[in-house]
Amino acid sequence: MSYQNLLVESRDGIAFVTVNRPEKLNALDDRTVEELEAAFTAIAHDPATRGVILTGAGEKAFVAGADIGELATQSPVDGRERSIRGQRMLDLIEGLGKPVVAAVNGFALGGGCELAMACHVRIASTSAKLGTPEVKLGIMCGYAGTQRLPRLVGKGRALEMLLTGEMVDAPEALRIGLVNRVVPPAALLPEAEALLRKMLANGPVSLRFILRAVNDGLEMGLGGAQHLEATLFGLICTTEDMKEGTKAFLEKRPARFQGK
Ligand code: COA
Repeated sequence: MSYQNLLVESRDGIAFVTVNRPEKLNALDDRTVEELEAAFTAIAHDPATRGVILTGAGEKAFVAGADIGELATQSPVDGRERSIRGQRMLDLIEGLGKPVVAAVNGFALGGGCELAMACHVRIASTSAKLGTPEVKLGIMCGYAGTQRLPRLVGKGRALEMLLTGEMVDAPEALRIGLVNRVVPPAALLPEAEALLRKMLANGPVSLRFILRAVNDGLEMGLGGAQHLEATLFGLICTTEDMKEGTKAFLEKRPARFQGK
């Protein structure tokens, strides 16, 4: 499939997805949201793609938010629909079942911060700035930022960011747990790829089940979440990967996981 506002390349099992509207700081207009949904749907169904790196084109921005030009004229019905479409696309990323690393190469604001938060891990360049400035526009997050931000950084820090609309720089984002690592701009993509490849060296079924246990479990009570974990643990004991991983350890050799 060809995209107008995305670049999608595959290399050795990794899809590199780049939001490509640098002249608008990669702002998410409706078309870009649709293309992201199409790209991640294709990735979900492609067994050859085992993980994803998501970034923004150019040196300035990861994604500077939803497209304010579109927001400015929306009716209440449009606004609700746009919010639901954006939330659905981000849920698709979070629930992909394959690790997604956000390489935050510059501004990640509003919908861009929400997009980064839907990814499983965030690596930021030293030049990155993250924030939820919607409040300054007389609006609020519509792509689940009011929900994912407190889950990542805690309620107090989230409310400070949401209510002031002020950005945090990369060291502060690291300090509060909004990003996992900060690296110089030139190291961003290599570091993101190295981290993802470490994950992909493990069995795909393990990765999928761990993502499921953490994503779904965090939304449940402890008892239900432990029940989910035990069920997934039982299920993983039926896999060839479990036999291979434990056997390889006992035979003192690297495991060769097949994802079965
Ligand atoms: N939606 C639509 N267009 C956007 C945009 C957005 N979220 N963010 C940036 N752009 C556009 C600008 O309008 C400008 O377009 P133009 O050249 O046609 O005028 C272009 O991208 C470059 O942005 P500019 O503002 O000139 O860059 P800057 O370096 O001076 O400032 C920012 C960078 C990120 C601080 C500033 O662009 C900004 O505040 N953007 C909006 C962030 C935001 O509120 N996001 C949440 C939206 S819900």
